[in-house]
This record gives sequence, C-alpha cells and structure tokens, in this order.
Amino acid sequence: MRKPIIAGNWKMHGTRASVAELLAALKQGVTSASNDHAEMIVFPPAIFIPQTEQALTGSPIHWGGQNTATEIGGAFTGEISAAMLLEFKCQYVLIGHSERRALYGETDAITVKKFNLAQQAGLQPILCLGETLEERQAGHTRHVVLRQLDAVLKQISDIQQLSHMILAYEPVWAIGTGLNATPEQAQEVHELLREQVAKYAPSIAEKMRILYGGSVKAANANSLFAMPDIDGGLVGGASLNAQEFLQIYHSIN
Ligand code: PGA
Repeated sequence: MRKPIIAGNWKMHGTRASVAELLAALKQGVTSASNDHAEMIVFPPAIFIPQTEQALTGSPIHWGGQNTATEIGGAFTGEISAAMLLEFKCQYVLIGHSERRALYGETDAITVKKFNLAQQAGLQPILCLGETLEERQAGHTRHVVLRQLDAVLKQISDIQQLSHMILAYEPVWAIGTGLNATPEQAQEVHELLREQVAKYAPSIAEKMRILYGGSVKAANANSLFAMPDIDGGLVGGASLNAQEFLQIYHSIN
C-alpha cells in the first residue's frame, strides 16, 4: 500500500503575506484525521522556508526545498546546502525539475550529485523526469525518461539508498501549459519507471511513490489519480490557490 502524496511546487511565487495566508488555509484544511489517506508537502521558495516551518510545525503538512547545492558547503555564493534545508526541518527536496534542467543547465550528472548529497544528508529526494514536446513527437519519451532515471540508478552502490526515493513524472510540454498528459499517457510512463526500478530493487519499486506533474488541476486530478501507478501529484500553478490545492488533495481519497 503506497500512501499518496500531493505536493505543491510554488516556484518563484509569493510574498510574506500571501505565504502566511496560503499556509493558514492549508493548515485549516488538513487535519490529522484527513491526513491519513495522503500526505501533503509544500515546496516554498527557500527564503520562505523558515516562515513555513514556523507556520506548519505541529500540523501534519510537510515541507521541502525546491533545489539544493551540489556541494556540502563552502564558497558557493547563492547556494543552499542539504544540511541547511534539514536545519529548517525540510524532509524533502526536488531534484532535477525540468526548469532546473532547461533554464539552469542542470545535466544528468549534476542531478545525480544533488540526489546523492540530499540523500546522504537525510532528505528524501523527489527526482523529476520528463520529455519535451519534440522528444515525445519524435517517439523518444521512453528513451529520455529512462536515461534520466538510469543516471541515478546506475551509480547507486547500496540498493537501500533507493528506499527513500520518490519519482515525479512531469512531461515538460504539460508544465504550466494547461495541457496535461491523459491518464493513460501518464500511466504508461509511470509503469515503465516502476518496472525499471524493479530491475534493481523489486520490493523497493513496489513501495516507491511516483507522482504525476504537469497542469494538475481539481478538474483532472481524479482521473489521473485513478490510475494504478499514479501515487499522487506534483502541482505547480494550482498549488498557489489553497481552495483548489485542497480540492486536489481531497480528491485522492
Ligand atoms: P504546473 O507545474 O502544475 O503549473 O504545470 C508543475 C511543476 O512544474 O511541478
């Protein structure tokens, strides 16, 4: 039995006031009892993590970092280490989001480095994978997502390191575009990813959560979450609206 996750990636949005308002509304909407069926995680911009920690401590909602450094510490202006995220009680970190890959030149090798450091520090990495529109149209979806996943799997020395891994399949053409993958298109990739992890660690693959991301809304969440290998969502735009995000969260019941 995999406990679903509904995660909100706020990207570079928010003000002190809007963050306070959003967190208060989420806290009110997620009681301990309603949290039994699914886990909620929010990913605020790093500067709002202390505010998030303060607001959510004692609530069942978890939080994490949108990014982390490739180094443990030192002269790396502007970077935030995994240990710093942990100090503010982040449990999770997004690794390899397509915006990091496309806009900030994060290669598979960089993603792997971040994945390893996050994991060694004790964070649960959510590894994001997905193909662009051109890659899908050229029939390269399988090849691209397996390349991104294998980059991490191939260098794992101890298979138990995979036990905290969460995957997020986010087709790039569906992010922020209003075009979501159909439940069948997403299911096909999720199944492929689970099968691939099973080649390395079958029992871990069975328990591993695979989230779908890309224009998840209250209106399409139900049909996506009904698929057998979709264990929740990584939600961007719709996670900034408390009412809609809570609706998505409750729709996974
Ligand atoms: P979106 O973003 O829901 O706004 O498409 C998803 C994501 O990038 O994680």
